[in-house]
Amino acid sequence: MNCNNYDFVIFGTKGDLSQRKLFPALYKLDNKKILDKKTKIIGVGRAKWKKNNFLKFVKKSLKKFLIEKINKNTWKIFKKRLIFCNLDVYNTKNFYKLKKKLKNNKIIINYFAIPSNSYEKICKGLYKFNLNLENSRIVLEKPIGDSLITSKKINKKIGKYFKESQIFRIDHYLGKDTIINLLYLRFTNSIFYNNWNNKSIDHVQITVAEKIGIEGRNKYFNKTGQTKDMVQNHILQILSIITMKEPKKIDSKNIRNEKIKILKKLNFIKKHEIHKKTSIGQYSYGEIDNIKLTSYNSEILGKKNSNTETFVAIKIEIKNKMWKGVPFYVRTGKRLPKKCSKIVIVFKNTTPKVFNKFSNSINNKLIIYLEPNESIYFKFLNKIPSLKKKCKLKSSKMYFKYSKNFEKKNIPDSYEKLLLSCILGDQSLFVHIDEVKYSWKWIDNIINIWKKVSKKIELYSSGTWGPNSSKKIIEKDGRKWI
Ligand code: BG6
Repeated sequence: MNCNNYDFVIFGTKGDLSQRKLFPALYKLDNKKILDKKTKIIGVGRAKWKKNNFLKFVKKSLKKFLIEKINKNTWKIFKKRLIFCNLDVYNTKNFYKLKKKLKNNKIIINYFAIPSNSYEKICKGLYKFNLNLENSRIVLEKPIGDSLITSKKINKKIGKYFKESQIFRIDHYLGKDTIINLLYLRFTNSIFYNNWNNKSIDHVQITVAEKIGIEGRNKYFNKTGQTKDMVQNHILQILSIITMKEPKKIDSKNIRNEKIKILKKLNFIKKHEIHKKTSIGQYSYGEIDNIKLTSYNSEILGKKNSNTETFVAIKIEIKNKMWKGVPFYVRTGKRLPKKCSKIVIVFKNTTPKVFNKFSNSINNKLIIYLEPNESIYFKFLNKIPSLKKKCKLKSSKMYFKYSKNFEKKNIPDSYEKLLLSCILGDQSLFVHIDEVKYSWKWIDNIINIWKKVSKKIELYSSGTWGPNSSKKIIEKDGRKWI
């Protein structure tokens, strides 16, 4: 790695994200000898901590959230990097304390692991002490706002202090190796490249299913819901990656431009189509892996009825030449039977007439399992060996399993990958301001229509694949969820 002059500053040191993701990812980079010898990790917070308290806190997080055991030698090196800076970010005049801990000539990676209502204050504090100069980068977590209007406000506020080239908006799905692979799979294999359009593809399905519920994030989730939490960002990102044209160059400007073009062309769902094209549900009582589970409502509010969706399915269309006529069915939900993120590309059945009688009307399918059990399957027809003149065909599969081809330990964690991209100043895996804008615009339209028509949330039992209406969305087109 050719960047060796950087420090990390983490705002929101005691928060869940820092403990669960940031400290483990930084530790893992250190364990792989990627972090520079002189790099410091400065945790910012209001706690009245001495260095030792901070070290204990980080070690506890690593013990809890690292899958592997802490390596003694790595910890020795890692702990020397850790510095705590007692600072209330609402008190901008105190940012001198942070300045004292930083060296001017270094790249500073400021990670805002803190709610977005504090962003402006932090930016102001950094600005006040010249900590927003060219060498300074800021990393922001999703969600950026909760609508087009609020996201614009946030982007405007931070834009007063930092240029777009200094802003790294995280969508952790973009750091997943199987998602990064999508571009390479599409564009380096001519069999896919040449057939990746509406001439060959019948439809596409994207499923991001989670087994977990809301895991105590009651306040955040009840205000947000699955559509804003998962579709506005992760699912629209996956969609734009699998539908974008090839970039002119493999760099952040060109890759992000192509994604933006897709987001701009998402077909706005109309009021009269809302029931046909969208379905929302909320988990009720049920069972997963023989464990009895309570309903969302009893988890969140006790008696009152919440109107927040924990499941959403949408039929999406893209208004461009390449994708005209190809529906993209997407669904995501909590408390579904298993954790599974996958993309299914269903090809058209274009068997020449003379072979029609053999085709058993199979559509070739490319199934990409993003997580877990990372793998790629291709479904095709094959002749059953026999001496008989009459041929019989069998639907068969070609498998490519990550676990058989790559060592698990070599598959990087998404935060490792994203933090490293920040160090290198590469924004291609980060979300551009226009991507945020167009995704919110499209999502806002749906949410507004749901409000207008008072769309009902259907209950589904925990451990099932969502409400019945999600099946209808696809079945009315003569297709099925795979
Ligand atoms: C987060 C959402 O962005 O992604 C969570 O806020 C969700 O609600 C999580 O559980 C899923 O991430 P992953 O990497 O486990 O698929």
